[in-house]
Amino acid sequence: MTSSNPLANKSQAWSALFSEPMSELVQRYTASVGFDQRLWRADIDGSLAHARMLAAQGIIGAQDLADIERGMGQIAGEIERGEFTWKLELEDVHLNIEARLTELVGLAGKRLHTGRSRNDQVATDVRLWLRAEIDGLAALLAAMQRALVELAARHTDTVMPGFTHLQVAQPVSFAHHLLAYVEMFARDAERLADARKRVNRLPLGAAALAGTSYPLDRESVARALGFDGVCENSLDAVSDRDFALEFTACASICMVHVSRLAEELVLWMSQSFGFVDLADRYCTGSSIMPQKRNPDVAELARGKSGRVVGHLMGLLTLMKGQPLAYNKDNQEDKEPLFDTVDTLRDTLRIMAEMCEGIVVKPEAMERAALRGYATATDLADYLVKKGLPFRDAHEAVAHAVKVALREGVDLSQLPLATLQGFHPAIGDDVFEVLTLRGSMNARQVRGGTAPGQVAAQVERHRARLG
Ligand code: ARG
Repeated sequence: MTSSNPLANKSQAWSALFSEPMSELVQRYTASVGFDQRLWRADIDGSLAHARMLAAQGIIGAQDLADIERGMGQIAGEIERGEFTWKLELEDVHLNIEARLTELVGLAGKRLHTGRSRNDQVATDVRLWLRAEIDGLAALLAAMQRALVELAARHTDTVMPGFTHLQVAQPVSFAHHLLAYVEMFARDAERLADARKRVNRLPLGAAALAGTSYPLDRESVARALGFDGVCENSLDAVSDRDFALEFTACASICMVHVSRLAEELVLWMSQSFGFVDLADRYCTGSSIMPQKRNPDVAELARGKSGRVVGHLMGLLTLMKGQPLAYNKDNQEDKEPLFDTVDTLRDTLRIMAEMCEGIVVKPEAMERAALRGYATATDLADYLVKKGLPFRDAHEAVAHAVKVALREGVDLSQLPLATLQGFHPAIGDDVFEVLTLRGSMNARQVRGGTAPGQVAAQVERHRARLG
């Protein structure tokens, strides 16, 4: 049967037109089976949906369909068990599976490709595969958010310095800081869900580029494969990869968020901050400095964001010069796309786990908040409430900070008489606003850091994340 299978040797796959075999180098250069074999399940699912439609439309016979279904069942088993022989000379996942099908079931295998091209086939496979990956990533993003929300729930009253320019600015709760990342990851999840809508369209039926003369029922194939609809233009269907670009852009933004969180963990774990400790299992030692515990996992999460952003640039550049419709350039979409998915998946998993195990050091956070006159704005606001224009209040407080700095004390440690020297409107009620907690409690505005507000946010996220 092998000799009657035109795919048994790929130089014969296209036709008798070719008079010389491919060199080993060209074969290796043009083959994608080394990496695109991971699309095998999507390829089989797509083929089965196509074959069932062909049979329903009377384009192939019922027996052909039964043979194709039986053959594909066997192939799936062989691949799952690691028994399938992938052949470089068969170039890609599509030709490998089709050749094996024909080897197993003969003529029916040769009929499968009716009304189809590898151009619409590969576009379908990648979309099917990516859709499943997006669903997995959405679950991981939810888990990441849950880990942060539960950590936040325990720290609505833990004060830390909020920074601008990495200078102590105003006190915030650790929970409030963590929930900022929850907002970012929630938007990442929204973006991904939105991108999924544009991934979830069926290219099959576009054939090589112009559509096909067979009476295909594209809508039924779309329904069978769970697509929301069909691609409406055959040239567009086989050639554009904007769905992959969009996904990689979403992944890049998400990795940038991860990277910022990772950077903060690295800073917070340093001796200079000492705000948190990361579990040993996420750290490594040094081969020369016995005292070292390095936050390698956080550093790598930060570093791997560069790789995903790089893939986005690679894919954009891949597409920009291509004339319509399909070009072999498109084969180069896979490795960056696969690596983007793998990197984002592993990073989200490990970061969520690591965040669950963070040991928080509230005293160090509080000490740091006390060092930078974080309640100076509160003193200015206090004076405004006593009737001063804000600019005058700002000036009076600047003088107070200068004196406190000289004495090496916090504003709350200056005697009332000294404070009154900066403005006579200052009374002994001033000390409530000068404490870190007084400052935090005062920020009752929606989205502010007051513990009640933050607790309400925790509840909102819990309800949203289920
Ligand atoms: N391996 C190819 C890819 O990934 C499949 C499509 C090939 N189509 C073609 N006309 N050569 O794009």
